[in-house]
Amino acid sequence: MGKKSNGRRIQQFDFPAGTILAGKYEIVSQIGNGWEGEVYLIRECATRIERAAKFWYPHRNPANRTARFYARKLHKLRHCPILIQYYTQETIIHEDQPIRFLVSEYVEGELLCDFVSRQPGKRIPVFQALHLLHALAAGIEKIHNLREYHGDLHDENVIVRRYGLSFDLKLVDMFHWGPARPQNLHDDVCDLVRLFYDAIGGQRHYAKQPPEAKAICCGLKRSLILKKFRTGGQLRQYLETMQWD
Ligand SMILES: Nc1ncnc2c1ncn2[C@@H]1O[C@H](COP(=O)(O)OP(=O)(O)O)[C@@H](O)[C@H]1O
Ligand SMILES: [Mg+2]
Repeated sequence: MGKKSNGRRIQQFDFPAGTILAGKYEIVSQIGNGWEGEVYLIRECATRIERAAKFWYPHRNPANRTARFYARKLHKLRHCPILIQYYTQETIIHEDQPIRFLVSEYVEGELLCDFVSRQPGKRIPVFQALHLLHALAAGIEKIHNLREYHGDLHDENVIVRRYGLSFDLKLVDMFHWGPARPQNLHDDVCDLVRLFYDAIGGQRHYAKQPPEAKAICCGLKRSLILKKFRTGGQLRQYLETMQWD
């Protein structure tokens, strides 16, 4: 058993703008919160450079294991351009408890869920969605080639930075426990197909989708999807060579 904290269990930080962290960073604003902790836009005082900081609630980061795993995984995958870059970790004392935070690249952009929901009919055309899926598959391919996986691919963990013909995407919030098993890579592939399916309108519009879209979605049946593609690379290749009517 690790050292017991004397403090109460922290459920929320809610750091106000202007809070100075470890004498080096300043809180700009909160940009997310979830089960594990909170994410803030911060600014490095010495350079005025913006960064993102993920703060863990102490009970979600025992002995700093969560933060360490996440940092090591981001570092291992530092040459995968679809992932944020890891910079450093710091500790602050908050309500008498040490709080670890991880500093990474700040991605300016829009969450995929927000991007899709402001489109007409809250969905994007199939051809645009194929470009989205291609960018995701090509990004995940590099992760899979390093025998790693994302593990938590959904539209709040995908940031769209710019979009023209192709999408420029970043992924945040990887699942960061344990080594990759084949099933983890398969989950990523099925999650990518799910993102495509949702982007073109989900169940409501599925029946009317063209055969090319249905050939990818396979009605979201896992076994059918995995017969066609088992890794990000196979999905990317399929998209680049698929036949059109
Ligand atoms: N590096 C980053 N740059 C910009 N925004 C980020 C960054 N990291 C996280 N976010 C934003 O914060 C939200 C929550 O962060 P995330 O890492 O997904 O934590 P969780 O989902 O566990 O709360 C994301 O959905 C995204 O909007
Ligand atoms: Mg998230």
